Amino acid sequence: MSRIWVKGGRRLQGEVTVQGSKNAVLPILSAAVLNPGITELEGVPDIADVRVGIEILRSLGAEIEWQGHRLSIDGRGIRPEPVPEELGERMRSSVLFLGPLLARFGEASVCRPGGCAIGKRPVDLHLEGLRQLGAKFDLSEERIHGRAAELKTVQIRLRLPSVGATQQLVMAACGVTGMVTLSGCAREPEVEALCCFLEAVGVAQIRGAGTSRIRILGGGCCRSTRFFVPGDRIAAGTYLAAAAGTGGTLNVQGISPWQLKRTLQLFRRMGCRIQTGEDFIRISGRAREAVPYLATAPYPGFPTDMQSAFLTLAAAAEGKSVLEETIFESRLSLAEELNRMGAGILVCGRRAEIPGGARLHGASVRGSDLRSTSALARAALMAEGESRVEGWEHAERGYESFTEILSELGGMIRKETEKEENSKVLKNETEEPKVLL
Ligand code: EPU
Repeated sequence: MSRIWVKGGRRLQGEVTVQGSKNAVLPILSAAVLNPGITELEGVPDIADVRVGIEILRSLGAEIEWQGHRLSIDGRGIRPEPVPEELGERMRSSVLFLGPLLARFGEASVCRPGGCAIGKRPVDLHLEGLRQLGAKFDLSEERIHGRAAELKTVQIRLRLPSVGATQQLVMAACGVTGMVTLSGCAREPEVEALCCFLEAVGVAQIRGAGTSRIRILGGGCCRSTRFFVPGDRIAAGTYLAAAAGTGGTLNVQGISPWQLKRTLQLFRRMGCRIQTGEDFIRISGRAREAVPYLATAPYPGFPTDMQSAFLTLAAAAEGKSVLEETIFESRLSLAEELNRMGAGILVCGRRAEIPGGARLHGASVRGSDLRSTSALARAALMAEGESRVEGWEHAERGYESFTEILSELGGMIRKETEKEENSKVLKNETEEPKVLL
């Protein structure tokens, strides 16, 4: 368990170049299995989930070189080995190795991704779609073992626009010699990024990426390729929200504003000034206005991954806001931690009533997933006094150098050092040290 210390009350000011997208690069790492040549990726973020993805590729036999943000994957030695449990269990995206392994080798074995702090997150849509493509599964409580003598041309309709299921089926369809049509697809930019990558590798021709109907003509010839991972829209939104919460001014570089359309609309509605260019977003002013009703929705709707940002800003805004979480049933558990800081949020099922007008104060709080942990850090930057945020390892799954970046922007925030952590364990201390920041 790792933790950070934060002292609130400072405005964030400056510029940040956003990291490569976590949710784009993770499926691309599994799609690299399809390429028996060399895949070179630029803009790969140095985050815990990427490290797990790389270890999975190594366990399958890939040769990997990783320098800075450049990753080179030599796929010649890849074999359909079972994905080791100790790696697969650490990241839900490990299930995305199923489709590409089935497509290239006709065999795949991955762990069952368990439930997690944001909801149950089943993989029924992934398996239903793969079955329609011709795969057969042996399922145990721990593992999913799939086989497919041949994947076949088919039309599949997804019951829900699941991001992961769409990506899984697009990758599996690359192994079909012929056309596969998927409808009811997720339209998230990360699905589009995966399709661009697959086309760049040459394994398939893909039409309709970014729409709800995607057609994949698989069976192409792979070639060594170099691909740039797009900027992370959720990390960009996270930094913008941090500035909006402290009334600061921030320029976020390396992100296309159209990917954040609904999020930027929300910041404007809350009273922030937004300027955009082709690959930057500038925000200034504090988010002060309440929003009577906001619901999360699949893309292009307001993203569930930005819900925690809204909850934090709405707590301090003037007047009552209501938020409905429609994607992940357990994501509002963040409210309980924000209430320790004085937010006063009332949660009933998937609906949160945020009275607004809170003067947040420092507290000891705990994040239970990636986005809630980073939201608590932002709330602590807005609050009066000092806070301790536990569970920082969740944030490190998806944000590169988060505390360093916010500290450069003027925030008083730092991670507890290993030395501090060890000395506390030795002395069996549970209390915080006297000098924090
Ligand atoms: N669902 C099913 N069955 C399935 C798959 C999904 O019922 O087989 C349900 C889920 O339980 C959920 C809804 O469909 O209620 C949407 O889930 P989806 O499959 O779209 O999400 P995902 O692919 O598991 C990705 C991101 C999430 C992001 C969601 C929604 C990655 C690695 N993860 O998850 O990102 O919240 O799409 O946009 O791409 C994060 O970055 O913090 C994060 C959780």
